[in-house]
Amino acid sequence: MCGIVGYIGKEEALPVLLDGLKRLEYRGYDSSGVVVLGEKVNFEKTAGRVSALEKKVSKNNFFGNIGIAHTRWATHGKPTKTNAHPHTGCKKEFFIVHNGIIENYKELKKELEEKGHKFSSQTDSEVFAHLIEEEFKDYHNFEAAFKGAVSKIKGAFGIVAVHKSDLEKILIAKKSSPILIGVGDGEHIIASDIAAILGRTKEIIYLGDNEIAVCEKNNIRISNLKNEAVGKKVHKVDISLEEAEKGHFETFMKKEIFEAPEVIKNAVRGRLIESEGTSKFGGLDDISERLKDIKKIMIVACGTSYYAGLLAKYWLEDFAQIPTTVEIASEFKDRKASIDKSTLLIAISQSGETADTIGALKEVKAKKILTLGIVNVVGSTISRETDAGIYNRAGPEISVASTKAFISQATVLALLTLFFARQKTMSLSEGKELILEIKNLHGKIGQILSNQKNIENIAKKYFKYKNFIYLGKKYNFPIALEGALKLKEISYIHAEGYAGGELKHGPIALVDKDFPVFCIATKGSSYNKMLATIEEVKARGGKVICIATSGDKKISKIADDVVFIPKSSEMLSPILSVIPMQFFAYFVARYLKKDIDKPRNLAKSVTVE
Ligand code: M6R
Repeated sequence: MCGIVGYIGKEEALPVLLDGLKRLEYRGYDSSGVVVLGEKVNFEKTAGRVSALEKKVSKNNFFGNIGIAHTRWATHGKPTKTNAHPHTGCKKEFFIVHNGIIENYKELKKELEEKGHKFSSQTDSEVFAHLIEEEFKDYHNFEAAFKGAVSKIKGAFGIVAVHKSDLEKILIAKKSSPILIGVGDGEHIIASDIAAILGRTKEIIYLGDNEIAVCEKNNIRISNLKNEAVGKKVHKVDISLEEAEKGHFETFMKKEIFEAPEVIKNAVRGRLIESEGTSKFGGLDDISERLKDIKKIMIVACGTSYYAGLLAKYWLEDFAQIPTTVEIASEFKDRKASIDKSTLLIAISQSGETADTIGALKEVKAKKILTLGIVNVVGSTISRETDAGIYNRAGPEISVASTKAFISQATVLALLTLFFARQKTMSLSEGKELILEIKNLHGKIGQILSNQKNIENIAKKYFKYKNFIYLGKKYNFPIALEGALKLKEISYIHAEGYAGGELKHGPIALVDKDFPVFCIATKGSSYNKMLATIEEVKARGGKVICIATSGDKKISKIADDVVFIPKSSEMLSPILSVIPMQFFAYFVARYLKKDIDKPRNLAKSVTVE
């Protein structure tokens, strides 16, 4: 997620800006940049980490008391140095950083190019720097040119700009993208996230939509788009950095579950070719020729990422007819897995730093096998060690129990399935239908999230039980495993996941009135078999909690408790059914008063084998 920091005051701007950028790292990003204005213009950008930017600028003398900086998370254009912010115009006089999307940038860019402007990046944001430059030709005044430029853009923006010949002010505009101004002693710190400000001041002005601020060292003026002055309150915020990052949620886990709709949109953005009913990934461009020779896929991963891999196996075999095996990464190294050069190895990892997965990846790389990483953390070891990569774009996952990362992994894997399936037997219309289903996912998840109270009530009824079985069939079998893992991890209750049909082969011996069974019985080809399984549990006096498709009247008659989820394609139903599982584990753990974000004995990233 993009982050903005700006500074004007009596101190050197660079350390404040870099500190602010580091505090925004938790949001995730892929490139960064800074400009500090003093006797000269000090300007540097880089693809990659803020630490890389820091190394670059430390070699130069970046002196000056005013500056802006940015961490970019690519939307328009690849994560390269050129596409990183700040952006500047042709004469390198105005510098801007921007969060959001300038929807009419293509039209504006065309007009500006016709007037002779030369663009260097592929971003929508650069257009704003050129716009100020153009407006300045008429107004000869930074503030007026900035306002003129703001009046021409459509979309969402938090924009901060500086002018190399006006070291007395920073200009800011906001619409639908957060911007805050920290009021310090003879200084102002501007940021898109309170985390970048709290280290210096707790006095904050929240800029409203369609407001423009002129920030000087000791003064701040805010107006609306009609140039009328707007009075603003300075809020005293009394929260810690961690609280700031959590927003209004009591835990990171809950916050991250609620991010699911956004996570899906981000995973999909720019990756669909709707007219061709297929998907595309920038990260696969370099290996497109080698991919043509692939006959098999092997997935290596651990924990939740492994379950995402298991789901992908079902999809890849059902829809793309590619034989796929899924290996627990820690097991892979200890056995002689059959793998040759016709295999594509996919390593799935949220952190990109899981030692077992890295170990498996290294073994495979030594055999010169094509490797692909599906990773959330940008720049992590797995993202660097694989031949090609697809980022999840889920943003930082802080809670040890993985939730939104799983949603993003499953979404990326659904897109990857579409990519391969369309090269095989999936028809154009089937591809288009799947795209429509994918595009509807985030709205359906929104409906499930608004039903959290129902799941909380069920958790309240069951939190004292000591054992659970989770059952699911076909695409929902990996979800049963994932649901059981979530409950174990954060509530410390014993839970086992099984394929629905396996119950009668052993685990049914455990079932009695004290052993609740959590069943995923959504509509689809396995529905009737799951109903039969539920009847078997009920016949043994077991209690049944069900996830079912909304409108299913039958299920309410046999299950003790039901969570309904919206209707969807059978293929994508697991991306919906996992959410109530996450919530159930969450609420059970909360009733048991467990440390939800930091469960005992667990680490977010397991960096030892
Ligand atoms: O970062 P990774 O996805 O490679 O992590 C793999 C597992 O350690 C991880 O999914 C773990 O199982 C989580 N705690 C699950 O919530």
